[in-house]
Amino acid sequence: MAIERTLSIIKPDATRRNLTGRINAMLEEAGLRIVAQRRVRLTRAQAEGFYAVHKARPFFDSLCAFMTSGPVVVQVLEGDDAVAKNRKVMGATDSSKADAGTIRKTFAESIEANSAHGSDSAENAKGEIAYFFAGTDIVG
Ligand code: CMP
Repeated sequence: MAIERTLSIIKPDATRRNLTGRINAMLEEAGLRIVAQRRVRLTRAQAEGFYAVHKARPFFDSLCAFMTSGPVVVQVLEGDDAVAKNRKVMGATDSSKADAGTIRKTFAESIEANSAHGSDSAENAKGEIAYFFAGTDIVG
């Protein structure tokens, strides 16, 4: 297994409920290391740019409104197989289909307000990390 990095976002539904520490503990217990982290309030343009791949989807406008509705915590996670590991600890996008003990099963409020985002491939992770972090922000 290769050491990888992936982008994670703790979403506004989770920051509103003060769940950052509990989610970070779940990530760390899964063997992921938080090597960069910043709490930010996304602008509409930042949210639209980040989710540009979903622009044609019916949920795009609502998703961008949600992602700008409160602070998020953007973070870079590092570890063996970090992309897959993070997706496993997050659980399925639709929390009703997520495994017990996952972040989304434990905390999600809806398919949209699903508490966490994680890159879906190592290639996309590179672009998503660069969207929020300079190389010098990441301390492995
Ligand atoms: P995320 O992993 O950040 O990727 C796209 C986001 O769109 C997803 O999590 C959800 O927050 C949101 N979303 C809202 N509705 C849907 C849907 N029907 N299918 C997939 N994602 C959705």
